[in-house]
Amino acid sequence: ATTLKAAVTFPIGMIVSADRLSGNDNNFTTVLNKEFNSVTAENDMKMASMFTAPNTYDFSKGDAIVAYAKANGIRVHGHALVWHSSIPNWLKNYAGTDAEFEAQVKGYVKATVAHFALAKTAAGKPVVESWDVVNEAFTDGAYAAAFYKRIPNYLVKCFTWAREADPTVKLFYNDYNLESQGSKVTEVVNMVNSFKANSTPIDGIGLQMHVDYVTTSMSTLAANLTTIKNTGLLIHFSELDMTVNIYKDLTTLTTERSNAQKAKYKEIAVLYKTIPAAQRFGITFWGMRDSESWLLSFHNNSNEWPLLFDANYGYKPAYNGFLEGLNQQ
Ligand code: G3I
Repeated sequence: ATTLKAAVTFPIGMIVSADRLSGNDNNFTTVLNKEFNSVTAENDMKMASMFTAPNTYDFSKGDAIVAYAKANGIRVHGHALVWHSSIPNWLKNYAGTDAEFEAQVKGYVKATVAHFALAKTAAGKPVVESWDVVNEAFTDGAYAAAFYKRIPNYLVKCFTWAREADPTVKLFYNDYNLESQGSKVTEVVNMVNSFKANSTPIDGIGLQMHVDYVTTSMSTLAANLTTIKNTGLLIHFSELDMTVNIYKDLTTLTTERSNAQKAKYKEIAVLYKTIPAAQRFGITFWGMRDSESWLLSFHNNSNEWPLLFDANYGYKPAYNGFLEGLNQQ
């Protein structure tokens, strides 16, 4: 096949914003519609964007994304209901009791999931098929956040509330460094096992896949993926991108570095296909053009080229490598 989405039976995703889809960037939507059949909101469907005041929600940007997806036959993956890095200021500083704090979070999770469950395709399928219910719960930052401190058993509760609001939407736990950090994989698998033992709902695991062209070990990634795969849950490569210049040794992307990136994108596509078909939820890229990646500001480096398309929407060797991997029999 000659496009990403036509090459495989599982969805290929891209991050979007309501602004990007509003009609002022035809280049973006042309590539989006040609290559991708799943979208995740980069920021518009996070708690800090939607939970504007106590018992008050603004779903307008998410609704615009859902309307675009519905009109174009694209799936929406919801991201992210509860994340320590996306708490609205009013809730961070919430002066109520812990029980009142919990009631706010519960109300928000249930209202948000119920709202987005309403959108259906012409065939009656939900447009928003899934949610990252909790994002990045196993780091120091997360342990320090209000959810851990103020809501006993908050992981179990968030998944339970989401399921109460929608009996069929797929519920994901999403995290970074699962490709590299065995201790975090253990924490996630322990969580899944304890959920299963207590009938707490969970359908899938998202490995963010913010990888590097050389420091990310493919053998460690493969081993961790096997451990996660053995849970039997759906697996989403949820935020794929690949740095090539973390040591800032380049000022332009060389052919050599570009080819190394191409080769590793191919390996990642091939690796994903080792997951049993019934567990493949899809692969989502965290950005279309290199110039727009969050990694440029994160590493304070404008000379970083982590994605499949260059600043002019040109197809990079990385794209060809990934497509080759998808097409490989
Ligand atoms: O929109 C405002 C703008 O009005 C304001 O002038 C500007 C000043 O800082 O901020 C803008 O908002 C920023 C927003 O991105 C849009 O650019 C936020 O400050 C900034 O925090 C936000 O960063 C996002 C980050 O998550 C935090 O929510 C990144 O775009 C987004 O790529 C990143 O994505 C995360 C995933 O959700 C979870 N996994 C890691 C991944 C990368 O950090």
